[in-house]
Amino acid sequence: MMKKMLMVTSALALGLATTAAKADPEAEVLHWWTSGGEAAAVKVLMEEFNANGGTWTDMPVAGGGGDAAMTALRARVLSGNAPTAVQLKGPSIQEWYEEGALGNIQDVAEAENWDELLPEAIQYHLKCDGEYCAAPVNIHRIDWIWSNSDILDEAGIEPPKNWDEFNAAAEKLQGMGILPLAHGGQAWQDATLFEAVAVGLGGPDFYRKALVDLDQDALKSDTMKQVFDQMRTLRGYVDDNFSGRDWNLATAMVINGEAAFQIMGDWAKGEFIAAGKEPGKDFYCSSPSGGAYLYNVDSFAFFNVDGEDRQAGQKLLAKLTMGENFQKVFNLNKGSIPARLDVSMDEFEFCGRQSNADLNEAIDNGFLLPSYAHGMALRGAQAGAITDVVTAHFNSDMSAEQAVEQLANAVAASQ
Ligand code: GAL
Repeated sequence: MMKKMLMVTSALALGLATTAAKADPEAEVLHWWTSGGEAAAVKVLMEEFNANGGTWTDMPVAGGGGDAAMTALRARVLSGNAPTAVQLKGPSIQEWYEEGALGNIQDVAEAENWDELLPEAIQYHLKCDGEYCAAPVNIHRIDWIWSNSDILDEAGIEPPKNWDEFNAAAEKLQGMGILPLAHGGQAWQDATLFEAVAVGLGGPDFYRKALVDLDQDALKSDTMKQVFDQMRTLRGYVDDNFSGRDWNLATAMVINGEAAFQIMGDWAKGEFIAAGKEPGKDFYCSSPSGGAYLYNVDSFAFFNVDGEDRQAGQKLLAKLTMGENFQKVFNLNKGSIPARLDVSMDEFEFCGRQSNADLNEAIDNGFLLPSYAHGMALRGAQAGAITDVVTAHFNSDMSAEQAVEQLANAVAASQ
């Protein structure tokens, strides 16, 4: 009996000693999730982090698409004071790694079996020199058309599934005095439209050649001219005040019935959900891509930081980010679907389940395509060169011929 008590006491002492020696996890997290749906989603991780003994310092940088956040990040890294974790994605993860700024979370990834849990098609985005340096939170689909169901039902219009149907619907609505397209005139939003048009009009092979491989023939092709022509057509469906509008304000226009459609990634669905709207009832989702799927994986990259508490924070954050419950709840709010393959889709609504089914089909067909507009396909300078031309064309009377020529030249100069 005495012996047993002694053992218990020493185990307790040992436990206390271990706790005392452990650093309390801390994380300063830089992200651009500031809209209603986005803030609800990131709060889930913040709460889980704090509930697991961590201290979360939030560093939100407003500005859809993350341009402002990336400027803030560079300033922090240059001043030798990188945040603990940063919302980052695509080749920019590897670009930061090449600059020597990123740490490695391979030990967490191995302990938690990430290679088994993540689709092979997205793993390479998260690895630096073959080891994990970023933790994924989701898979977003970009090529969606969101529509106000009351407007469409009253006008007798089905959710469009290709650009011809979209144009026909928009003409009809315009004839009825209804604004067809809610758009935010910021360069990244123009680029979002452009890549959805490119994949829908040109098909997956054209998209890959032009916007992933940067093939000059594809960039200069007649198909690319048609893409710019369709951009000009879309320009005719937006209101006069679109310039500079934030994406979530454009979503609000569809929610409130001020416009019929928005073309945007499924973070827009997060806004509908945050406003208490139901897919299939209050709004519809459809894709104009004929089986292709443009994806974007948000992830956290972990920068080199000093201090045991911050390093412990990185490991805890990496582990929680890939947690099964987090991947479900975060994505129910965010509008995306889990990156983990084993999370049940039962609690997801129609558009989420559709996204998941389409993703799997696209993987099987080879139609899964990285979004250029959301930093998944190209290095920053190359993507920037394309977006400059896209936005210059959309906001002027530049012809499709001129745009195609400028596009091919700008891409060649950026390589
Ligand atoms: C995307 C990002 C999404 C969402 C969106 C709007 O690039 O992947 O998570 O935040 O921008 O800001």
